[in-house]
Amino acid sequence: MVNAKINGKAIQVDKGTSILKAAEMAGYKIPTLCYLEEINEIGACRVCLVEIEGKKNLVAACNNVVEEGMSILTNSPKVQSARKTNVELILSQHDYRCATCVRNGNCNLQDLAKDLNIIEIPYETEIEYQPWDHSFPLIRDAAKCIKCMRCVQVCDKIQGMNIWDIVNTGKRTSVSTVGMQRIEEMDCAICGQCITHCPTGALRERNDTERVMKAIMDPEQIVIVQIAPAVRAAWGESFGLSREEASVGKMVAAARQIGFDYIFDTDFSADLTIMEEGNELLERVAQGKEAKMPMFTSCCPGWVRFVKTQYPQYIDHLSTAKSPQQMFGAVAKTYYAKTLGVTPDQIFCVSVMPCTAKKYECDVPQVNDSGADKDVDVALTTREFVRMMRAAQVNIATLEEEEFDEPLGLGTGAGVIFGVTGGVMEAALRSAVYFATGKNPGADDFTIVRGEDGIREATAEIAGTKVRAAIVSGLGNARKLMERLERGEVQYDFVEVMACPGGCAGGGGQPIHDGEELACERGQRLYALDATSQLRFSHENPAIVQIYDRFLEKPLSHKAHELLHTRQAEWDIR
Ligand code: SF4
Ligand code: SF4
Ligand code: SF4
Ligand code: FES
Repeated sequence: MVNAKINGKAIQVDKGTSILKAAEMAGYKIPTLCYLEEINEIGACRVCLVEIEGKKNLVAACNNVVEEGMSILTNSPKVQSARKTNVELILSQHDYRCATCVRNGNCNLQDLAKDLNIIEIPYETEIEYQPWDHSFPLIRDAAKCIKCMRCVQVCDKIQGMNIWDIVNTGKRTSVSTVGMQRIEEMDCAICGQCITHCPTGALRERNDTERVMKAIMDPEQIVIVQIAPAVRAAWGESFGLSREEASVGKMVAAARQIGFDYIFDTDFSADLTIMEEGNELLERVAQGKEAKMPMFTSCCPGWVRFVKTQYPQYIDHLSTAKSPQQMFGAVAKTYYAKTLGVTPDQIFCVSVMPCTAKKYECDVPQVNDSGADKDVDVALTTREFVRMMRAAQVNIATLEEEEFDEPLGLGTGAGVIFGVTGGVMEAALRSAVYFATGKNPGADDFTIVRGEDGIREATAEIAGTKVRAAIVSGLGNARKLMERLERGEVQYDFVEVMACPGGCAGGGGQPIHDGEELACERGQRLYALDATSQLRFSHENPAIVQIYDRFLEKPLSHKAHELLHTRQAEWDIR
């Protein structure tokens, strides 16, 4: 332990405690900008400066530790002046047109400028511009980058993808893609984790809300929307609602106010995915040595991109089942179009996803089979959905709960948990037992696959056969698992991977709360929704039973293969 003083108050902290942490424990707030606990502690921005009595130079609180006898001042006049100067200097190199910035109202830099009473910049402004392909789902605006390095660290340390780097030297030092390559030619998984960890509007998703509004205003188009499971656990955060207040029914009502004609649930197609993927797993197990095992889940496009670029020798291990997003689009523009008596092209299909990679996925020709131009026309993130609610002046306080439309709005608890790491595995195991034995297991028989660790293992029994499972979230962890598989250190039958830490709940398209990781909390909400669902098995969804009766015949049928599966080896990411 070390003894010290903060603003005159005696403190005792563990050796190695940072000044920032110690101040927080003592009840003093020190502003930060570049700091991200355990990810970025490089002391780049100098916003967290503090004064140590008896020392001439101010020090950064985030990467200096408390020493015995220190007397620390967190807000002395000297500190205040230096902080203000540092933020003014950052702003002198920043395009601070907040009114048109995606982070307006949710930006550390904007808050700092306000808190430090900065109302003019006494320095010459010099802003950096870099070219960027604005049709790519991930957009970088160098003019808003404060060179904090968070994106570099998140992409390297958490996702293991090494897409960003420091470029140039001296006064021209900046952040860009490694070797300033074009992003569309790199292996970026489009997971969006760099976006959710950027403190400013320098990184964002492509804005597709205008395309959706154009379709909504077109009287010739029937605009339908599917909403992914993880969106319901997070949308309300942007309006300050608790998870209970932000109910599924209110989310549906808000979507209707935006102007969508039919509001559907991706839980429906998550159930459909289970029907196809669960049967595919049993088929592969029955094939024995012939089959490519382990089978990998294929519902996360970030993970699919990862396999295709980093471990192409494993492409055939990916399930051929399309993701729930794409299964939904294929069914909406065939089966549902028929029900409505319209052509596939008359339907404009929007998805709301917790994800940025879904924007890329819906453009892949090999997962578009309805005969329309595209099965899913536009994929929006949860953040874009929230922006559309605001633009439509939806009054969240007076929203009354509404129901999804039928039949594609019917989902089960098994579909809901697709949004959390381990959820696809759990849902698949629940139904796989039924497929193999004709009897349901207990709905909570496979909770062993739940957890927060980035790599988990479990063995489940299906009709007397042991299924060795691994559940992974985060691409850095996925790489570790793949290396172990490569070295023959582990053997599995079924592997679930979600590219974002915590699964889709922590997806790169979810609301941003600087420095907070909410995937786990959102995941708990999804488990609670599952626990209270009337139906908890995908195969019991009446809309699923109906679609097989009337249209698809049976899982893995010729029709199902045509619409719901892809040949993974036949396409790559570019
Ligand atoms: S990043 Fe923040 S400070 Fe900069 S323009 Fe956007 S909202 Fe304003
Ligand atoms: S893009 Fe964002 S996270 Fe990356 S260095 Fe710039 S401001 Fe920081
Ligand atoms: S989207 Fe993901 S893989 Fe791509 S640069 Fe960002 S963190 Fe790295
Ligand atoms: S937050 Fe400490 S130097 Fe940036």
